[in-house]
Amino acid sequence: MALELTIHERTDKKTKPDYNDLSFGTNFTDHMFVMDYDKEQGWHDARITPYEPVSLDPSALVFHYGQAVFEGLKAYKANGEILLFRPEKNFERLNISNERMNIPQVDESFLVEALQTLVHMDQDWIPTKKGQSLYIRPFVIATEPVINVKPSSQYKLMIILSPVGAYYSNSDQMSPVKIYVEDEFVRSVKGGVGFTKTSGNYAASLRAQTKATELGYDQVLWLDALEKKYVEEVGSMNIFFKINGEVVTPALNGSILAGVTRDSVIELLKHWGYTVQERRLSMEEIAEAHKDGTLEEVFGTGTAAVISPVGMLKWKDKEMVVNNKETGKLSLDLYQTIAGIQTGEEKDPFGWTVPVEVK
Ligand code: COI
Repeated sequence: MALELTIHERTDKKTKPDYNDLSFGTNFTDHMFVMDYDKEQGWHDARITPYEPVSLDPSALVFHYGQAVFEGLKAYKANGEILLFRPEKNFERLNISNERMNIPQVDESFLVEALQTLVHMDQDWIPTKKGQSLYIRPFVIATEPVINVKPSSQYKLMIILSPVGAYYSNSDQMSPVKIYVEDEFVRSVKGGVGFTKTSGNYAASLRAQTKATELGYDQVLWLDALEKKYVEEVGSMNIFFKINGEVVTPALNGSILAGVTRDSVIELLKHWGYTVQERRLSMEEIAEAHKDGTLEEVFGTGTAAVISPVGMLKWKDKEMVVNNKETGKLSLDLYQTIAGIQTGEEKDPFGWTVPVEVK
C-alpha cells in the first residue's frame, strides 16, 4: 500500500539556541518524522509530529543486540532557497545498510519527499552563517519487545534535524586536525559490517577514540584488520592523501563506508583534471612519502566534517607533520567548492543539490 504522510504541527515553538555559538548535534528542531514497520502492514503510519521523546519497551531488540542503522545529510539556505545535498544517495545507502542488518527496505523516493516536507516546516531553524547547516539524521531501530537473538519484526524509522556548526569542537572548520593511527584495535573486516552505517561500528570505535583523545589527537585512523598495514577510514570521515601531485584514497573494499562526500570529492577532482587513485595504500608508503617530501596534503571527507585538513599523523613512534600543520591549497579549494555548491553560492555542474519543494 502506498504510504501517506500525516502532519501534526506543534503549536508551542521551541526556543532556538544561540546561532553565534552552535555546537554539533546538541539542539533539535520543532518537528520530527516517524514511521513504523510490522510484518502485517509493512512500513506504515508515516507522520511528522512535534519533536518529543519516544517510548519503547525495555525489551526492544535495539537495546540488546544493536540492530540499528543511520544516515547523515545536510540542508542549507541560500538566496531564499533551501537545498539538500544528494539526499537520494543517503537513502540509497540506508537501504544498503538495511539489507546487511536484516532490516526491511524503505521507499527511498517517499523518504526524500517526506524529508523535504519536514525541512520545509522547520526551515526557520536552518542556520545561515558560514560553516553552519541543518544536519539531518535519519535512523532505523528494531523495536520488537523480545530478547531472543533474531531479526526484529517491528521497526521505527525516524528523521530528526539539528542546526549545527563545525563538527570538531576544538577547531574551526578548516584548522587541521591531528590523527592517531590505531594499530591495536580494529574497526571492521571484509564480510563484516564496515561498509554499513550501523550504530555498532561507532560503538566499537569509542575505546580507540578515547585513547586517541587522551594522547592529544582528534580522531583515529583505522587500519585493515588482518595485517594492520593498510589505511581504511577515520572515525567520522573517509581519508585522502595527495602524494606527488596525485590523489590517493583507499578503495571501497567491503570494510569502508562509501561516503557521499568521498564520492563527490573524487568526481570533483577528476573534473579538475587530477588523477585519483582508489587503491590499497599502506602506512609504510605514506611514511615513505612523508620522508621524501612527497606527502603534500592529507584531508578527510564526510557529511559532518565536510573537508577536514589533517596536520599531523601519529603512527607507531613516528609523528608526521603534514604541510607544516597548515591547510593545504587543495583541501581549501575542495572545501570552498563543495561548501559553495552545497550552499548554492557556486555553480553545481553535477546536479548534486536538490531544492526543497513541497508538493
Ligand atoms: C556524518 O558525517 O554524517 C556522520 O554520520 C559521521 C558522524 C557524525 C558519526
